[in-house]
Amino acid sequence: MSFKKLKSQVEEIIGGGTSVEGRLTAICELLQENVDYYDWVGFYFKNGNKEELKLHSFAGEPTDHTIIPFGKGICGQVAVSNENFVVPDVKAQDNYIACSINVKAEIVVPLFVDGENIGQIDIDSHTADPFSKEDEEFLEWVNKKVARIVG
Ligand code: SME
Repeated sequence: MSFKKLKSQVEEIIGGGTSVEGRLTAICELLQENVDYYDWVGFYFKNGNKEELKLHSFAGEPTDHTIIPFGKGICGQVAVSNENFVVPDVKAQDNYIACSINVKAEIVVPLFVDGENIGQIDIDSHTADPFSKEDEEFLEWVNKKVARIVG
């Protein structure tokens, strides 16, 4: 499915009547099922006032990494850098937390509410080097929509 079609489906989910948790899970499932190189899709958010991320919603295999301290792994680095992190080859990263031996690449895009980095969307891929600028722009767009319902 094209990013254009996915965007209209994300908008429908955001405008739907279910809980925030239900809508975020639906977005994870939509992306994981319709982009062939998105094998795991999840949202992490800052855990209260702790310097750590907590897994909120996801689609794909369950992960042990439901809590990630700021600075640790790709996710924890994005929590402090406030910048997208595209990893074409996870084996080339020192500060990386492996969730599955099948994962070859990862992209993490921060989610801002009123300019504050409150969480992120994290995508793992079993395909090597699959992510382009288009993915970054699409995921930034998704996060802006999600910011409206989590802020
Ligand atoms: N690989 C991530 C950990 C989260 S899992 O991908 C679900 C990282 O290095 O932060």
